[in-house]
Amino acid sequence: MTPTHPSTYGKLIVFEGIDGTGKSTQIKGLADYLTGHGYSVTLLREPTDGPHGRRIRQLATAGLDGISAEEECELFRLDRVEDVARNIRPALERGDIVLLDRYYFSTMAYQGARGLDMDQIRRANEAFAPIPDRVLYLDLAPEASIERIRSGRGETPNLFERREFLETVRANYQSFGGDGWIPIDASRSREEVLREIIQALEASDLWTAPSLDAK
Ligand code: TYD
Repeated sequence: MTPTHPSTYGKLIVFEGIDGTGKSTQIKGLADYLTGHGYSVTLLREPTDGPHGRRIRQLATAGLDGISAEEECELFRLDRVEDVARNIRPALERGDIVLLDRYYFSTMAYQGARGLDMDQIRRANEAFAPIPDRVLYLDLAPEASIERIRSGRGETPNLFERREFLETVRANYQSFGGDGWIPIDASRSREEVLREIIQALEASDLWTAPSLDAK
């Protein structure tokens, strides 16, 4: 990969998948790879560490079921509005490659699994949020992802209760597609997954194509 001219608009690459698919590990791996090839990289995640993101994490500790799906969806949207204005757009304007751990596809898949209309969520978000150039969707069965969380992070997740929920979230993700959507089989070793991610990005015309962000 050859760095694009520094004055050009950046690229937005999103990582998606259910909990425990290895998104943050792969993001770090890709960031190291890109930095080593001379790119300027910005790493971001949602929910963010801003006020709305902190509120979401507080609620998550207390059990997100305490609020309605609509309220949950609105909190994620507000967090994203701030992330776009404060972090995502400025980084793209600097010409950075932005690697984002979760975006509005999470809201569609997760809050969709709580019964909300996924197309409506997409429209509400695309009204203000830049459309990503590529979405790397890490696909893994909840059985395996829950086991990874348990052994890897030493957490005994209440995710066992959430297995059925995560099955629905996964089915939602699997129904997505279109421009820039790249499904990745996340059941293999982290090295193999990273290799496939890099190959998939190189095979796509990401570095030469104009940004998909029409705004
Ligand atoms: P995440 O930051 O990936 O979890 P952690 O930091 O604990 O590994 O996301 C927290 C949870 O929030 C995760 O279960 C997915 C959920 N989520 C939504 O339900 N909707 C959203 O829009 C986003 C961004 C996350």
